[in-house]
Amino acid sequence: VSNAAESKQIGVGLIGHGTVGRGVVALLHEHADQYARHLGRSLQIARVLVRDPAKHREDSLLAPELFTDDSAAFFATEGIGVVVEVAGGRDPVGAYVREALTRGCPVVTANKSLLAAEGEALFALARARETCIGFEASCAGGIPVVNAIQFALKSSRIAGLYGILNGTCNYILTGMTQRGETYGDCLAQAQNAGFAEADPTLDVSGRDAAEKLAILATLAFGVRVDVNTVACEGIDNLALDDIRFGAELGYDVKLVAVAERLKPSEGAPGDNLALSVRPCFVSKHDPLANVHGSFNALMVDGGPVGPTMYIGHGAGQMPTAGAVVSDLLNVVAGWYGDAYRRFAAWPDQMADAAPAPAEEVRSRFYLRIAARDVPSVFARISGVLGEAGISLGALRQHEVAEGRFVPVVIVTHEAREGDLHRALAKITALDETEGTPVCIRIMDSVED
Ligand code: NAP
Ligand code: HSE
Repeated sequence: VSNAAESKQIGVGLIGHGTVGRGVVALLHEHADQYARHLGRSLQIARVLVRDPAKHREDSLLAPELFTDDSAAFFATEGIGVVVEVAGGRDPVGAYVREALTRGCPVVTANKSLLAAEGEALFALARARETCIGFEASCAGGIPVVNAIQFALKSSRIAGLYGILNGTCNYILTGMTQRGETYGDCLAQAQNAGFAEADPTLDVSGRDAAEKLAILATLAFGVRVDVNTVACEGIDNLALDDIRFGAELGYDVKLVAVAERLKPSEGAPGDNLALSVRPCFVSKHDPLANVHGSFNALMVDGGPVGPTMYIGHGAGQMPTAGAVVSDLLNVVAGWYGDAYRRFAAWPDQMADAAPAPAEEVRSRFYLRIAARDVPSVFARISGVLGEAGISLGALRQHEVAEGRFVPVVIVTHEAREGDLHRALAKITALDETEGTPVCIRIMDSVED
């Protein structure tokens, strides 16, 4: 790696030549003249670090001799002025990112796992070495949410982030609800399309969305959010019955990421953040309900601008490559490095966030309770909820062909989550019910 800032050509060291990496190469090839005109310098791929350089790369636009699996040879390559990391994972890729930054070389990355786990140290290293990290593609694929929060909404005091941050899960839920396809078929399609992580458990468990939420909430609230404080529930245990019963009530199910500042009246001292990723019901009229397939959306709520919403392709080769290359151009143009020096707004410069207990969250909830088909059952359940101060908005009993227990579906008015869980524990213990009730948050749109 060399300091090529003043040369007419800038060498790009590419780590990873998979779905996103090939997209980056395609863009650099296709729009080479436009980029060179904008930068006054041309971008050249100088070396590509991959896991297996012998792999047959049929559609590669690059000469085979550029590929290596030897990181020392990669970093010794003459003329690399910027490193683009689109390999993924923490080990060994984290070491490569640290190596580039230690050499004073800016890094552009799409790697949310690495940033969510090691962001503080990486940002500190970048600033110590007077360089920077471009990470737009790490959150919500092609949607410029990092730029929106970090730069365009700088005047705002952000109160909440609400969004769909995983394209694979949204693709699966869309396929199941709109096309009646199975979970397994939809996941396989998302993998074939290149949306899913190498380990798709990260997607369906909600972890990938939690990593993105931690990165975005850190920028939005100016406090360092630990990904492990995000209450996380995936779509892998979602029951078809709940999707169907929710639809009857006018709701679509979405995996929603939420980071919200709790008000002091909600039991928090004032700046506590409630952070969660979980399947939620949204009204079919809510903007989030109309985010389909691999699209993501993020609603940012906060004055003086008021609520703003960002929507677009949250995963996929070219949208993600587009975000990577935009970062690359902004880094090479120099203004991104300036932003690192001039704004004290990077994760290593922040205090740790104070996470609010999930029980302080207030919301409406959907409940499904397996109840004995006897006349007293509604009175017993609503009695327990009433004692906890939880009032009911709707109550339905669904018929089943056989069996002693029938699904009772309840929609509550706004309730404190802690109160609800205590009531559900009592409902679970009733003779008239079986198993643990299902509880799904109902997200109501941000109001102006
Ligand atoms: P991918 O298709 O699995 O490609 C990974 C690439 O990295 C491959 O070229 C692989 O080499 C290389 N690689 C893996 N481990 C390596 C190692 N230890 N050393 C050197 N090279 C290594 O992954 P992807 O979908 O392009 O995703 C890449 C990154 O972008 C991930 O961080 C992902 O979370 C992020 N991202 C992806 C999307 C998307 O829609 N796909 C969207 C946003 C962000 P070989 O070719 O030799 O196997
Ligand atoms: N696997 C991720 C998703 C890729 O499906 O959203 C984009 O970060």
